[in-house]
Amino acid sequence: MSEWPSPNTRAQELYRRAEKVMPGGVTRIVPWQPPYPPYAEKGEGGYIIDVDGTRRLDLVNNFSSMIHGHAHPRIVQAVQEQVAMGTAFSMPTAAEIDLAETIAQRTPNIEWLRFSNSGSEAVMCAIKAARALTGRPKIVKIEGAYHGSYDFAEISLDSSPSNWGLEPQSVAYSAGVPDGVRENVVVVPFNDPAAAARIIRAEGENVAGILIDVTPSYLGYVSMTGEFARTMQDLAREIGAALILDEVISYRMDQGGAQHLYDLKPDFTVLGKIIGGGFPIGAVGGPRSAMSVFDHRNGKPLLPWSGTFTANPISMVAGKVSLDLLTPESIERINGLGHAFRDGLSRIFEETGYDAQVTGVASSFKISGHRRPIRDYRTSYSTPAEHGRVARLQEELLKLGYYIAYRGHGFFTTVNTPDEVDSLLEACRTAISHI
Ligand SMILES: Cc1ncc(COP(=O)(O)O)c(C=O)c1O
Repeated sequence: MSEWPSPNTRAQELYRRAEKVMPGGVTRIVPWQPPYPPYAEKGEGGYIIDVDGTRRLDLVNNFSSMIHGHAHPRIVQAVQEQVAMGTAFSMPTAAEIDLAETIAQRTPNIEWLRFSNSGSEAVMCAIKAARALTGRPKIVKIEGAYHGSYDFAEISLDSSPSNWGLEPQSVAYSAGVPDGVRENVVVVPFNDPAAAARIIRAEGENVAGILIDVTPSYLGYVSMTGEFARTMQDLAREIGAALILDEVISYRMDQGGAQHLYDLKPDFTVLGKIIGGGFPIGAVGGPRSAMSVFDHRNGKPLLPWSGTFTANPISMVAGKVSLDLLTPESIERINGLGHAFRDGLSRIFEETGYDAQVTGVASSFKISGHRRPIRDYRTSYSTPAEHGRVARLQEELLKLGYYIAYRGHGFFTTVNTPDEVDSLLEACRTAISHI
């Protein structure tokens, strides 16, 4: 069915050109897959048509950001109208207020917010804000949790049995990270309130912020327990640090985000992805008491913040339509699709004996190539052979017309149907029979 990855495809030709002008032939490492990725030509609702003419159901959805699929007519219309009126100004626009109001209405704990151009930038901004607010240096993060590309937030992202130690160590993610970065990040295990409390209390007044995500992607979107989430919030209050809740992915779980479901009141919430309707975006929001670090009206603020394309009206209008379309009913529907898929695939793994499992929450899923119950980063950790088992399945699915991420991630969107979930499950069964 699919041409990929046969020789003489248009994708291969493009990859050969790309290798000459980009390291490894790509500008993003995450969507890479050997021998070269399929290249997208256009998106239509839930589908991507690649440059070789293959149409696939897209379950990646640009890593969860396209919550209404590709080229949603209402988003296209809003963006076309805005493009014709100008794409970026140094003056503020009404569009940024519209989107900020929409987010504040959905998430009452967010009274004020500031936009950025990506989730990574927003995480960086929230960490700086926590430091500005407290005058302290250190950040607490969960072992294995992904928060984008900022070296403090990347600590212990991919630590391994060779370096993770008995209790989580602060392990640099990339080469050349200064010791000062490692020394200023405190790593705690996921869903272990007693260990987290002990480690955090020992750092006490050095901690500026506690950074959490209630469904970390690298841990298979397994859910943080309510007890752990509350413990992290209570600890932040106890030691006088800020609670930073990364909702770049989890905001899709509920109309008011995960903070509504968990009854959390973070000092800083980080948003991204779906709030941009498919365009680059990030945001940091919270109660005025915390967000006042950005307020410049009495002279230089504790944290000056700017950015050439920040709050550009394209992302603002697309994000506003995206959130307006994301009603409680549509969230419930896509969460149901996620549930049905995870249930169905678990049964298929059971029946076929394929050594894998699927985890996830709401409309997300992640396939792992082992059966160990996932409780934290260490139990989620996959060996190369286990990653290989997911990659084989992913490649077979690609050939059958279904696109999940190379490492087994996927998300359902408001344009997906129960029939598509059934056909995806059937394709998983067929893919396994080919392996
Ligand atoms: C939880 C979380 N935080 C932050 C980010 C970074 O967002 P961006 O890729 O827009 O920089 C991501 C991206 O996947 C994420 O999943």
